[in-house]
Amino acid sequence: IKSRPMQSERITFIRPDDWHVHVRDQDVLAAVINDTVTHFARAIVMPNLNPPVTTMTEAAAYRERIEAVAGSGFTPLMTCYLTDRTQPADLIEGHAQGVFTAAKLYPAGATTNSSAGVTEVLRLDSVFSAMTEVAMPLLIHGEVVDDNIDIFDREAVFIERTLKPLRDRHPNLKIVLEHITTSDAVDYVASCDAALVAATITPHHLCLNRNAMFKGGIQPHHYCLPVIKRERHRLALVEAACSGSPQYFLGTDSAPHTVDAKETACGCAGIYNAPSAISSYLEVFREHNALDQFERFASTNGPRFYTLEPNTDRVTYERTPLRDGPSERPSSVGPIRIFDPGQQAAWRLVR
Ligand code: NCD
Ligand code: ZN
Repeated sequence: IKSRPMQSERITFIRPDDWHVHVRDQDVLAAVINDTVTHFARAIVMPNLNPPVTTMTEAAAYRERIEAVAGSGFTPLMTCYLTDRTQPADLIEGHAQGVFTAAKLYPAGATTNSSAGVTEVLRLDSVFSAMTEVAMPLLIHGEVVDDNIDIFDREAVFIERTLKPLRDRHPNLKIVLEHITTSDAVDYVASCDAALVAATITPHHLCLNRNAMFKGGIQPHHYCLPVIKRERHRLALVEAACSGSPQYFLGTDSAPHTVDAKETACGCAGIYNAPSAISSYLEVFREHNALDQFERFASTNGPRFYTLEPNTDRVTYERTPLRDGPSERPSSVGPIRIFDPGQQAAWRLVR
């Protein structure tokens, strides 16, 4: 039996990065950016603005808007929103110039601001070939858009219907399957070459199962896409994150929407967790007796996959039995509810 170090109430680790975040634009960007900057040195910034970030010029301008409010000490890593019309030239040029770190594939209609996404994934062959050539990662929202497929099955069906054929055609393309939610995704990723396929895992998919969406009544603040699945899937995700495998790393999918937009007849998908994410993750790892694997998940697996250096400084978090702090982040367009993982304790950044 492998002995584990005693679980402490304090942990120091290499400063983490967020490999999947929505920081939005303008007023909301200004309201939320500090929560990401406080905890993370770098972040992969999602391009699903309205209209989406589809060109190098737009991404460079968006990066400047982020940098203007984030200050120094934080590096936004930009992504290109792929559409049916994406041509390899601008994408590859943007990658060469250091504007685009990766490209994001949204199946059209799969999630918030994805209507301009890709309708026929396998038609983007020239884009994927060009990306393979320069080892540019493809980040995938892995859900089929098909009313005939049960919403809880859309990730598993995507793997069979879209991801496997895509990888057959482009076996050397680097892929991050974003915000995985099922044991099917864990199994598929684990079956692939670790240098080629990885996955991000969110705090909410580690903390909650689908009952949370309906507990005592409909809970719009626990609604996100891909939708949270049943308990056995949550356990598979916890197992994967805590395993220390280089194929899984931190991506919050922090996705702010105002309370108004969530608490309505047709509420938006997305959970705002940037302020509480590290705390939620740490508590999950602690419960699983796996704090010794946390640094890999949060701070070194991601850079390794993206062929970047880990950050050089370290941070310390301390566990406190009391939870406090604002549960909403105010913004000029209305308050934004902060994800509450419903855990026993919270971890605070002490330095
Ligand atoms: C995200 C958003 O609001 O932009 N929503 C979500 O539920 N995760 C989009 C996404 O990542 O799917
Ligand atoms: Zn997302």
